[in-house]
Amino acid sequence: MIDWPALHRVAAEAARLSYSPYSGFPVGAAALVSDGRIIRGCNVENASYGLTLCAECSLISSLQLTGGGRLVAVVTCTLDPVTGLAKPVMPCGRCRQLLWEHGGPECLLDGNGQVQPMTAVLPGAFDASELDH
Ligand code: THU
Repeated sequence: MIDWPALHRVAAEAARLSYSPYSGFPVGAAALVSDGRIIRGCNVENASYGLTLCAECSLISSLQLTGGGRLVAVVTCTLDPVTGLAKPVMPCGRCRQLLWEHGGPECLLDGNGQVQPMTAVLPGAFDASELDH
């Protein structure tokens, strides 16, 4: 059972911890892991813009640091600059690849107000099954 409201709450809390002084675009990510824990991540920007870490990147670091496992369900959001309330935001292409690596095709994503499997947001994905070992 996936507690989507809890994931939305945690993603919004994570977005509020974002370090995004350059874009002014905070992003939060939350995920349910296969062992039942909920993890989170936020974007962390840098004066050298290209070094910015996306929220999903932070999420995956947290996944590994807190015990690994598989991503079952993921929520990503930003915050409305006027109201401060959470608004859906879809992961960028690179971050879809990161989510795929640790969640695979069955992982569910709500990044735009509707739940979609990873196969819908990253069709024809490249992954370890393509590698020769
Ligand atoms: N951002 C994320 O954190 N995740 C995404 O998937 C898309 C973009 C961040 C990077 C940057 O700090 C800000 O959003 C504006 O691009």
